[in-house]
Amino acid sequence: MKALILSGGTGSRLRPFTHSTAKQLLPVANKPVLVHCLENIRDAGITEVAVIVGTHAAEISQVVGDGSAFGLELTYLHQDRPLGLAHCVQLAGDFLGDDDFVMYLADNVLADGITQAADAFAADRADALLLVQPVADPRAYGVVEVGPDGRVHRLVEKPAEPASDLAALGVYFFTSRIHQAVAGLRPSARGELEITDAIQRLADDGALVRAQRYDGYWKDTGKAEDLLDCNRELLGRLTGPDVHGQVDAASTLSGSVVIEPGARVYGSHLVGPLVIAAGSTVTDCTVGPYVSVGRDCVLRHAAVADSILLEGAAVDGVPALHHSIIGRWARIGRSAADRHQLLVGDHANAEVAA
Ligand code: G1P
Repeated sequence: MKALILSGGTGSRLRPFTHSTAKQLLPVANKPVLVHCLENIRDAGITEVAVIVGTHAAEISQVVGDGSAFGLELTYLHQDRPLGLAHCVQLAGDFLGDDDFVMYLADNVLADGITQAADAFAADRADALLLVQPVADPRAYGVVEVGPDGRVHRLVEKPAEPASDLAALGVYFFTSRIHQAVAGLRPSARGELEITDAIQRLADDGALVRAQRYDGYWKDTGKAEDLLDCNRELLGRLTGPDVHGQVDAASTLSGSVVIEPGARVYGSHLVGPLVIAAGSTVTDCTVGPYVSVGRDCVLRHAAVADSILLEGAAVDGVPALHHSIIGRWARIGRSAADRHQLLVGDHANAEVAA
């Protein structure tokens, strides 16, 4: 089996971060979402992987390279414009050949892996296997209607009136039969070649399209709220403290605290789960729970909970920062005056305590 990773897309719902980086490179528990995806693919025993990239191609290849660090062989394929998921299958036609493949949207985090699903697909020999999970608001997803036999009858992309609460996860298993289904597709109302249309076509043509419920943790990290949720989940899975950095005697640690080599902590209270990356300095702070501090961050006289700090972020003199994502080399400081002074980037969202 091969893998097709979709890592293009503009990530408009994750601005301002996606002005300068790919949404798939945003970190949860200090690891890019794309790396979680690569690890799942490797753990399922797949090595040949094509990655579809768009505007952030250079940065993606800089972070994951040729894939050898993950035990994978990566082939990059460029999609000049976001013309849809089925268009990605067309682009990858030569790479995929007649092989079975898993198509994986790289902004999806499946914290319990895809190995069980890959094994089920290999054993079942369906033409397509969709992973599904009930969601509170199916209108934001591809919605699947499944018969009692587990066969998919209908699949509708983001319906205004969903017929079921089962969302299609961004992980699909296909045999080569999908190539015929994508070949003659026409663009949808939003101008894209929809994989949902291709799968519907398979089902209409009598192909065996199955759905399997994914019982593990799944999140489409398309929005800030979802990234934070995912960060909490993955940090919550840390086992035990793992302290390699420098921590002075005036600091206290409780819970699953991970401090990478080269990080320094002075006079601070760290409440796990949390992770502090190399090169970061934390002084006179209360940090945690559920905080990911990226590389080379500086935290001073601050209290931070339930947050993600990207590389180089600085928080200085802020007593109660929570539920926040701070971008690369951004600084949150305390004003000397009795007013707020904000230099907020394009499409950013800031909420200050009134
Ligand atoms: C895409 C698919 C949708 C699926 C979702 C899962 O939507 O089009 O069918 O349910 O991924 O993450 P998008 O997140 O691109 O809007």
